[in-house]
Amino acid sequence: MKEINFDAVVARRGTSCVKWDEVPEGFTPQEMQDVIPMWVADMDFAVAPAIQEAVRRRAEHPVFGYTVVGDDYYEAVISWFRRRHAWTVSREEILYTTGVVPAMSVAIKALTMPGEKVLMLSPDYNCFFSSIKNNGCEVVETILRPRPASGEVVWAPDWQDFESKCADEKTTVFLLCNPHNPTGRVWTKEELSRMNDICMRHGVKVVSDEIHCELIMPGHRFQPFAAVSEACRQNSVILNSPSKSFNIAGLQAANIICAQPEWRRRLNRAININEVCDLNPFGPVALVAAYNESEAWIDQLCQYLWHNYQALCDFLAQELPQLRVSRLEGTYLSWIDVSALGVPVEALCQDLLRKGKVWVNPGTMYGAESGRGYIRLNIACPREQLMEGLRRMAKIIKNN
Ligand SMILES: Cc1ncc(COP(=O)(O)O)c(C=O)c1O
Repeated sequence: MKEINFDAVVARRGTSCVKWDEVPEGFTPQEMQDVIPMWVADMDFAVAPAIQEAVRRRAEHPVFGYTVVGDDYYEAVISWFRRRHAWTVSREEILYTTGVVPAMSVAIKALTMPGEKVLMLSPDYNCFFSSIKNNGCEVVETILRPRPASGEVVWAPDWQDFESKCADEKTTVFLLCNPHNPTGRVWTKEELSRMNDICMRHGVKVVSDEIHCELIMPGHRFQPFAAVSEACRQNSVILNSPSKSFNIAGLQAANIICAQPEWRRRLNRAININEVCDLNPFGPVALVAAYNESEAWIDQLCQYLWHNYQALCDFLAQELPQLRVSRLEGTYLSWIDVSALGVPVEALCQDLLRKGKVWVNPGTMYGAESGRGYIRLNIACPREQLMEGLRRMAKIIKNN
């Protein structure tokens, strides 16, 4: 594959995209005109050429009726995970749905009773909180702790606390984000195995959201939860989609992968109850083109993101040395400790948006307590745009 130019700027404003066109409360569209968005997890890169071509080909057929997926869809999923992640999935284990958040809601509905507790690491992806509550369950957080590691900030579970929360008889599901949004951890096989051992000791099922699994930085390796061991495979439901890694979130296709026939029957029921069983005509063709023809693209993307991350670290070390960046092992979301500024992060983010014209997310979106003193920055954009966003941030912070 020829080299992809990730420096190319794709003008997205005016395409009804959430990242560039959403107007937050208290702002006018005019005020948002020159903002650099570094908030929602969506990339500013053109998709892989094979995906664009596949979608174009489908769009040329003039009927966009109800869609069913074919053999090529299942074969693409199975082949991808075997080739890329040494994980063997069989066709009957795969259930498709419209997104990973819908899949999460389905999994919680299928595996819990209202009033039960769902454990999650904290901070964690914000929709985890809402999905648990929307299904009538209670959120239980176990707060991640920084692990001492050669001067870098690397997050790890507090195992004692993790176990004591699993031991609560009302806790029935552990909702895991693997790799982890927002801390950027790519959990190791040992960590995943330990999580499962503890969960199984206390009868807790694992739902692993693996949407970020292709976004892996050099030196790290994604471990599918279900491929850790037969015990992990039997005790888990995996949620996945090419949407995040291949930048096709708007095409809405995702998979639930589960080895347990009885859980699968319940998952299937919940897909129907939640009415998230119909894909649109473009999702499956994009998925097949991503998994079958875009592997080289994702390798180049990860290299580019890695250089963006290094540029971010170099810039902050020079300009804002009081900020501390968590080690990015995966995802394109940087988790940054801004507590040294002594300003509540909501106020800081408001200032950055209103005065600095750069939109980042306050850490408290990902955990009211665990996210205090942090911001989350999306670095999946052309490098020059990233640098301009950082210069704007530095200007505001230095003038405060
Ligand atoms: C961990 C995680 N899960 C799910 C999603 C969204 O999934 P979907 O758009 O397929 O519903 C995101 C988006 O940022 C995410 O970070």
